[in-house]
This record gives sequence, structure tokens and C-alpha cells, in this order.
Amino acid sequence: MLVIRLVSGPAGSDALVLPVRPGKPDSADSSGSPAELVPTAVAPGDDVRAEAAALLPATRLTGAAGEVREHLRPGGAPARLWLLGVGSGDERDWRTAGAALARAAKDETQITIALPGEATEALRGLAEGLLLGSYRFRLTESGGRPALAEALVLVDDPEALAGTLDAARTTAEMTRLARDLTNTPSSTKNPEWFAEQVAGAASGRTGLHLRVRGPQELAAEGFGGILAVGGGSASGPRLVELDWRPDGARTHVVLVGKGITFDTGGISIKPVPAMKLMRKDMAGAAAVIAATLGAAELGLPVRVTTLAPLAENMVSGSAFRPGDVIRHYGGLTSESTNSDAEGRLVLADAMAYAVRELKPDLLIDLATLTGANAVALGKRHAALYSENDALAGDLLDAITAAGERAWRMPLADDYVEHLASDVADLHSSPAQGAGSVVAALYLREFTGDLRDRWAHLDMSAPSWSDDTHGELVKGATGWGVRGLLRWLATLG
Ligand code: BES
Ligand code: MN
Ligand code: ZN
Repeated sequence: MLVIRLVSGPAGSDALVLPVRPGKPDSADSSGSPAELVPTAVAPGDDVRAEAAALLPATRLTGAAGEVREHLRPGGAPARLWLLGVGSGDERDWRTAGAALARAAKDETQITIALPGEATEALRGLAEGLLLGSYRFRLTESGGRPALAEALVLVDDPEALAGTLDAARTTAEMTRLARDLTNTPSSTKNPEWFAEQVAGAASGRTGLHLRVRGPQELAAEGFGGILAVGGGSASGPRLVELDWRPDGARTHVVLVGKGITFDTGGISIKPVPAMKLMRKDMAGAAAVIAATLGAAELGLPVRVTTLAPLAENMVSGSAFRPGDVIRHYGGLTSESTNSDAEGRLVLADAMAYAVRELKPDLLIDLATLTGANAVALGKRHAALYSENDALAGDLLDAITAAGERAWRMPLADDYVEHLASDVADLHSSPAQGAGSVVAALYLREFTGDLRDRWAHLDMSAPSWSDDTHGELVKGATGWGVRGLLRWLATLG
């Protein structure tokens, strides 16, 4: 990962980056005015600044966030001047700018970036943008590594900004971990492998406790949903329970993440186009695990217990069948007529366990639960469900501030009747009703007395990006890590 350091003195990089923003609109000229230099805390040197200012009209830069222009200065020091559009200068625009810079300047080895005087938002955005925009997932070294290894950030008081840089670095590092886990092919990524990755990442951090249940323990304790879904696979299911328990924590949050390491649909098998990306069906588990590791790394004073039910939904002679009735942890039963609605079955077990045994203050689940998420909200927004307006508002605020997106959806009671089954307590995959809403209503049945302290995020759509733009890189996005960490940081 790119190294970012705060410095106060003029550094000797060959490449200096100066921020630019949209210039004051000139009423006499409707063609728009050129970008202007943003005043920086540490002056780059009068000659360099004057040169940059003189260059600006010719660059045709508008100052919009993410614009980048390289200017060569033969024989000069620095030898290259980069002009970087930072738009309004808020955190979000700096994040966009940082990501664009990381990609445009990938052949530099070291760059120095001059920040404005009020640098907190700028630094948070810049650092996250640099670290997330430079992310790449490759299983071989062909394709060439980016040369960019170090970014020096020029500010007036490095010490005062160290905490901000730490928060940005941890957030980005954990988002990158979630991306790695989600991008990994399912030939490698089975439930056992995923649990091992968690163990590796958690080891040596004090205050973190890990318990992994295998098939025998799951059977002994009655986790029928996880066992049914995992039953068709040669790689048995697991339940990961990762606990961050800081001294003196007053609030206890349980995070649950769907961890289907591959979703064929099971006996209700998916067609080819629908199956091709189903290695990402554990993105919810990856996000909640990474957020919990981040909470520990940052020492957040809130207790977080994360449950990741892990299973591979396969087609085989031992796979569960449409029409089977599944007995969940705690005793509720589900009739399942579509083995492709597997996510809610494993979540139901984990949520029932959380409510009965962990008794947290708040319960949040993240899941790549339905294709209907994207039908309703498009490719970038998660669907948020909660009966608690304050909790929903806090989560939306944190998600937005962190640069992610979600939209609140209704838990419409009109659909509850579809959850009725002739033979079991619940029907898990009714054909009627709006898909993402019905799935949320089904999960609500497992929230017990936490019903109004629960939120569900259907994040199938934003868990993956079809292209590279802003801080997202084509492939897994790590959606949820940033928003959860922001939200957890607000709890005491
Ligand atoms: N993992 C899928 C949902 C999904 C679809 C995630 C597309 C990401 C992209 C989930 O297990 C599933 O198959 N859901 C079904 C539910 C239906 C059978 C009730 C769906 O959305 O079609
Ligand atoms: Mn499915
Ligand atoms: Zn699935």
C-alpha cells in the first residue's frame, strides 16, 4: 500500500502537486473562467507558484474535482508540476481528486502534495482517495505494478493532523481488505479459507476475540439454516464470531454479514449470466469483518460483535431441496421453495443467535441479498430498512459522509401476508411482493425484541463496480466498511 506521510517543510520530490479550483465566474464572459490556484498552508516557492498561475489559462482546467494536468519543467526543481482539480474543496471532492491523482501519477515514485490551511477534510479525502484509487487486485504480476510508492503531504502542523491521517489510512486499509476478500476466486475462497483470513487478520490485536464454529458445532447448537445452505458443498460451512471488546464500552453493536462464498442458486440453479459474479456473495461478511478490525485498530470505545455465517450454495446430492423445511437457531422454521433465496436462511440463524445470546443494544446486517436492490435503486445505492428513524438517519448520515450511498426503503406491512406458509412458521421465498422488501420483512421475523433497534442493508448493487471511477476500481468496492466505521466512531 502507498505510504502517506505528513511533512511541514518543502520536500525534495521531483513532482509537486498543487490544488486548483473553479475560478470566480466572470460576468462579462459567459464562456466560463479558468481554474485558480488554491492557497496552500506551505507556499511552494514564489517562482513555482507564479509559473503555475501563469499556466492555468492555457491548461483549460476548470478546477472540477478529479481533473489532473502534468506540466514539465526541464531543469527545474521540482521537475514536474501537477495541477489537481479539487472542486469545492470538501472531503468528497478531495477523495475524488486523490483517486484521480493516484491513477494519473502512477509512474511517479514519490509525489508531494500541498494542502490548504484548513486541512482536516482535505487530508481525510485525499488520503482515502489515494489509497482506494490506487487499489488493484491481481493474482499474477503481469500487467505491471504502479511505481508510485510514497506521497508526502505538505501541511503546517503535521502533529495536529496525525489522527485524521490514521483514521483515513485504517478506513482505506480495511476497505482494501474487504475488496481483496470479495475479489478472490471461490476456488480459493471457501468458508474455511475465509475464517482463516479472519484469524490471520485478528491475531495479535488485544481486545479482539475470535470463535469459529464448524459443521459439528453448528449441528450441536441448532444452526439449521447455515447447515442447510452449506450442505451441498464439499467445503463445510462456518460461523465466524469476532468480538471487539474495549474496556468501558457502554454500547454493544452486533453486525451480521452474509457470507455465501459462492452462490450457484443450489438446486434452483442460476442461469449463466446471473451466476458469473456470485463469488462476491460474501461481500456483506467481508465488510462487517473489515469494519470490526478497523474499530479495533482505531480503538473505538464501542463493543462490536460480528457474525459471519459462511456457506457455499452448491448443487449436489446433499444439497437442500425446494420444499424443505428448515429449523433455525432458536426454533423458528422456514419453508424454502427456492434454494436461491439462501442468504436470508443463513442470516436468520445468525440474527436469532445474536438476539437470544448476545442481547446487543443495536443489530445491523449487511447482505448481497437480492437482485431487486439494483432494480429499485440502480447500481450505486444500498437499500436501507429500519423501523427506527433515528438509527436509519444516523446510518444514512455516516454512509453519506464516508462517500458511500444508501437509500431508505419501506418495510411495507402489506407484504407480510406473503410470508405465511402452510407447513412452517414462515415462507422464505414467496413469489409475490417486491423482492428486496419481502426479504427484509422475512429477516425482521428474527429480530425478536430488537425489532426497533435493527437495520438491514441490502447491498448487492453497490458491492461491485462495473468500471473504475472516483475512488472505486472495477470489481469489488468494499461497500459498507467506510460507512460502518464512521457510524461506529459516533457511538460511545
Ligand atoms: N446472491 C443473490 C442476490 C444477488 C443477485 C446479489 C445479483 C448480487 C447480484 C441472492 O442469493 C439471490 O439469489 N436472490 C434471489 C432471491 C429470490 C430467489 C427470492 C434474487 O434476487 O433473485
Ligand atoms: Mn441466491
Ligand atoms: Zn446469494
